[in-house]
Amino acid sequence: MSKLPVRTLGRLDVSAIGFGAMVLSPGVYGEVDDDRALAALRYAVDNGATFVDTSDGYGDDGHNERLVGRALKGRRDTVVVATKFGLRVPEGAEAHRFPVGFEFGELAVNAEPRYVRGYAEASLRNLGTDVIDLYYPHFPDPRVPIEDTAGAVAELVDDGLVRWFGLSNVTADQLRRAHAVHPVQAVQTEWSMWRPADPKLLATARELGVGIVSWSPLGAGFLTGNVREVSDGDFRRNNPRFSQANLAVNNRAYASIRGIAADLSITPGQLALAWLLHQGPDVVPIPGSRTPAHIDENLQAAHIGLHPDTLERVNAVLSNIQPAGGTLLQDEPSR
Ligand SMILES: NC(=O)c1ccc[n+]([C@@H]2O[C@H](COP(=O)([O-])OP(=O)(O)OC[C@H]3O[C@@H](n4cnc5c(N)ncnc54)[C@H](OP(=O)(O)O)[C@@H]3O)[C@@H](O)[C@H]2O)c1
Repeated sequence: MSKLPVRTLGRLDVSAIGFGAMVLSPGVYGEVDDDRALAALRYAVDNGATFVDTSDGYGDDGHNERLVGRALKGRRDTVVVATKFGLRVPEGAEAHRFPVGFEFGELAVNAEPRYVRGYAEASLRNLGTDVIDLYYPHFPDPRVPIEDTAGAVAELVDDGLVRWFGLSNVTADQLRRAHAVHPVQAVQTEWSMWRPADPKLLATARELGVGIVSWSPLGAGFLTGNVREVSDGDFRRNNPRFSQANLAVNNRAYASIRGIAADLSITPGQLALAWLLHQGPDVVPIPGSRTPAHIDENLQAAHIGLHPDTLERVNAVLSNIQPAGGTLLQDEPSR
């Protein structure tokens, strides 16, 4: 098994680059079957990824978590398994809606404390494990104080169902309030060369000693330079940045970034991941892929050092780009 550098999220040691499993369920980024999905995930773990990210909301009825459970059979202890809850609202529970920038306009969650133990028990069954290493509410619930959700996770930690508490898609204020109830180890946020992270969130995470997990670190594939169109059945159809018109504009805008990668003899995707790793020792990107050659490329980015002059050059280019199309969450969520 290859070794990757280790980073620490709060008190949790993980490979500097993890693996985001969302892409392994059909209908997210196009077609994939279970054999290909299992092979991809095993390949990532064989090649040094020790941090796997999933959610009870990925795929139908726990499909993604079940894949993770199957792939990790016999090697569960070598991997930190992170999953999320609240996006799959159970029958009979109220759907708490909030606006998002994708075409479907809103998402719904339910993170009321009374449902949280049931979510965890279902995830444990899907994952085929007796403990979840890192457990996040997928989104803050607009109708439930974050303190209440944090309290419900704290009970799961006390009872041994969960090891560590994480937060996803929260504001700096929500992070601080939840952390006061139970220590948060990692905060997951969209962060990449085409989606700046909220500086207040980063500052608060750093002040509290909370690690930062960047989701969609490759801009949902865009930053690899390989996406020229998205087909039917690809979830990115809902993402305004991937409309045919915006995609063409955005690909033109990022030509200089691809040029910098070429000058360094690395791929644009590797530059995107290495750039994130250079934003601080507490940052862990979780790219996803169904393709072993891509997984290799992504994991190798953990070994790439970028000279300060290169970072300055990249940042200068990025500061002049405003990507066309909105993102999933508003920059300043109103929750
Ligand atoms: N907390 C949240 O709300 C949230 C939201 C979104 C995502 N996430 C997490 O973040 C993880 C990663 O995000 P993501 O999947 O949205 O986006 P991503 O990792 O930025 O990009 C994934 C896409 O890039 C392609 N790709 C990956 N490596 C490549 C390479 N080296 N060359 C060319 N193409 C490459 C993949 O296709 P191939 O399969 O063809 O390689 C896939 O289409 C998810 O799996 C999920 O765990 C969390």
